[in-house]
Order: sequence, then structure tokens, then C-alpha cells
Amino acid sequence: MSVQQEFDQWAKTGKDRGMEQRHWHTAKHALARMPVEPGDRVLDLGTGSGYALRALRETREAGSCVGLDGSVEMVHNAQGYTDDDGVGFVGGDFHHLPLAENSVDHVWSMEAFYYSQRPDEVLREIRRVLRPGGTFYCAVNFFEESEHTHEWQERIDIDMKLWSRKQYREAFREAGLIVAEQETIPDREIEIPPADEFPTENWESREAMADRYRTHGTLLTVGVNS
Ligand SMILES: C[S@@+](CC[C@H](N)C(=O)[O-])C[C@H]1O[C@@H](n2cnc3c(N)ncnc32)[C@H](O)[C@@H]1O
Repeated sequence: MSVQQEFDQWAKTGKDRGMEQRHWHTAKHALARMPVEPGDRVLDLGTGSGYALRALRETREAGSCVGLDGSVEMVHNAQGYTDDDGVGFVGGDFHHLPLAENSVDHVWSMEAFYYSQRPDEVLREIRRVLRPGGTFYCAVNFFEESEHTHEWQERIDIDMKLWSRKQYREAFREAGLIVAEQETIPDREIEIPPADEFPTENWESREAMADRYRTHGTLLTVGVNS
């Protein structure tokens, strides 16, 4: 199944808003660290419902922002969730960004980068569109050290890149991005039921759930264009 087919279905069944709610738990902490100045242009890769750009516009006075997504239904929904002229949503592919060289101040991506089939190429594209000193904030919950997310691959028919923390750092550097920061942001808002209520949902143990959310949470890797 293609990215477009898969995520069109997600958008049509309201999963875009569901992701927004869950991802916000950790995304907001990463977004708060972005050095976005009033007027800065921000690109969101795999924008989903577009919540990140709405937040940056409202809280940081970001300038004209672009949310790119491979699913036309995601783009359609995202556009419908705002009447702000300063944010636009476009269909497109991470591997061929429809933007000029040196044309954006910052790039954001949450839970999307690992769907790219040629991530090294995507990093080079990101570097191409970023201005010198511009940043790439890459947030992922699916990564090697977070073993309780590995099973996600079984639920989706798109090859997902399971990189380790080190692989992210090395790939960023290889593309010409300086790694300014890398850390995990635990999800403190997810409710972890008391031990006597387990098992719940698909979790084998309470420890596994706590490990997934509280220990690993979201891996944030920050690259700066040199
Ligand atoms: C799991 S969703 C995350 C959405 C949003 N960032 C969030 O935090 O809720 C991943 C999104 O990335 C998009 N995507 C995945 N691979 C892509 C690619 N190669 N080019 C463009 N968009 C892609 C999907 O269509 C989907 O909307």
C-alpha cells in the first residue's frame, strides 16, 4: 500500500485528530524548544492535521508556514482546521520538496520521518531548503531503543525505517547537519493504570507500558544547517 492510500484512510476515519491528541503530549515540549522567531518560515513534513504549525503561528508568531503531506485527505483536513492565511498545506513527497534552496528557517517533523523510503535523500533535501543556521527538529516514537514500538511495523504495509539514536545522529551529520541535541521526551500525560487493572489494551505488562511512554517516549534529534 502507498503512503497516500494508507494515510488517506487514516484521515477519512478521524485518525488525524487522534494522532494530534496523543502526539501533543510530547510534541509540545519539542516545539517549545524550537528557536522560532516572529516571521520565521517553518516547514512541517508529514503534517497530518497541521496542529504543529497552528501552534507555532499562535504562540510564536511564525511567518508563512507550509505543511506538506503525501496524503491528499490529510492536506484537505488540515486546511479545514484553520482559517489562518499564514499557514498553507500542500500535497507532496519528502524526497522532492517543492521549495527553493535556502527558503525556510526551520523544519519540523513528528512521527513521519521513518516512513521515508530513502531517508538519506530526505535529509539532503531538508538541508537544501534550510537557510544556514536553520534547524530540523525530528521527533519519532518508533526507533531501535524503544522496543515496545517495534510491533507498529506489523500493523502497516509501508516499510518503516527502524533507526537507532546513533543512526539518526550519523545520518544527520552525513547530510551536513550539525547534531545540536538528541534526547528522549517522556510522555507524562498518558494514563498508566494501576497494576491491578492490567492487562489493558494490547499491553503485556504494566512495566512494558511504562517503559514505552515514560522511559523512551519521543526521540528528538535536532540538526542545524551548517
Ligand atoms: C503518523 S502521521 C503523523 C502526522 C503528524 N505529524 C502528527 O504528529 O500527528 C505521518 C504522516 O506523514 C505522511 N507521510 C509519510 N510518508 C510521507 C512521504 N514520503 N511524503 C509525504 N508525506 C508522508 C503521512 O501521509 C502522514 O500524514
